[in-house]
Amino acid sequence: MANSSTNGVEGDNETNFGFRRVPREEHAGLVSSVFESVADRYDIMNDLMSGGLHRLWKQALIDWINPQPEMRLVDVAGGTGDVTFRFLERLESATDNDDTTSRAIICDPNGAMLKVAQTRAIDKGYVHGIEFVEAPAEKLPLEDRSAAVCTISFGLRNVTDRAAGLEEMHRILDFGGHFFCLEFSPAVAPILAPLYDTYSNRILPWLGEHVAGDREAYEYLVESIRRFPEPDALTTEMQAAGFGNIQHRMMSGGIVAIHSGWRL
Ligand SMILES: C[S@@+](CC[C@H](N)C(=O)[O-])C[C@H]1O[C@@H](n2cnc3c(N)ncnc32)[C@H](O)[C@@H]1O
Repeated sequence: MANSSTNGVEGDNETNFGFRRVPREEHAGLVSSVFESVADRYDIMNDLMSGGLHRLWKQALIDWINPQPEMRLVDVAGGTGDVTFRFLERLESATDNDDTTSRAIICDPNGAMLKVAQTRAIDKGYVHGIEFVEAPAEKLPLEDRSAAVCTISFGLRNVTDRAAGLEEMHRILDFGGHFFCLEFSPAVAPILAPLYDTYSNRILPWLGEHVAGDREAYEYLVESIRRFPEPDALTTEMQAAGFGNIQHRMMSGGIVAIHSGWRL
């Protein structure tokens, strides 16, 4: 598995876009075009492609976060807002309090994804509860130590400069702040591997083409998962960014991992 701390960058000028080598300065634009093209169908495709499992994985993330009153969340690569909404819903049910003002910030560099998040927020009645910030993980326009919790869910594998993204997420956390990365993992249990490979190589691209109308976007998804670091390698990258007390949990036979780390 060819990985480095900067999303597969081995020289200064090129990086991986799925299995393709592309000029480094083109990577963010290519990723952006993927999410631009799927934004409107992103939520339904998530359910379809994961058989609804993404809901359980996100629920497990929220369980681990254990939202508490006054906790301020920054959801990096927040996309259409799934993690943020679940965080706020859990907070409300735990506290009997529907005042969610400034409790959560959804950051994402893709305006189309953020627009879906905004519509969903209005539908859910979060008119004042959430801020939307259009920015990449590598350059968060947020103050130092301004969050108690920072999440990145199914986002880190898209970040062009992973080391810079991790450093930024560490920077915005307060001392004692908690970072979580929920991501597909290449460390799938051997017993599941043949089935998983068939699903990834044949069924997912087919669904991408026939349901989402974009085969390439879903080929990119498969390829970017294979390129993502194994759990121990990601732990090393998180340590390099400054996180301490790092742990990870595998779910669904290694298809997905949640990494947790602290700003000490
Ligand atoms: C698969 S979606 C995940 C959305 C949401 N977090 C979820 O779990 O459903 C990945 C998101 O990463 C975003 N993204 C792409 N490049 C990024 C970057 N450099 N920094 C932060 N987010 C990025 C995309 O715009 C997209 O919204």
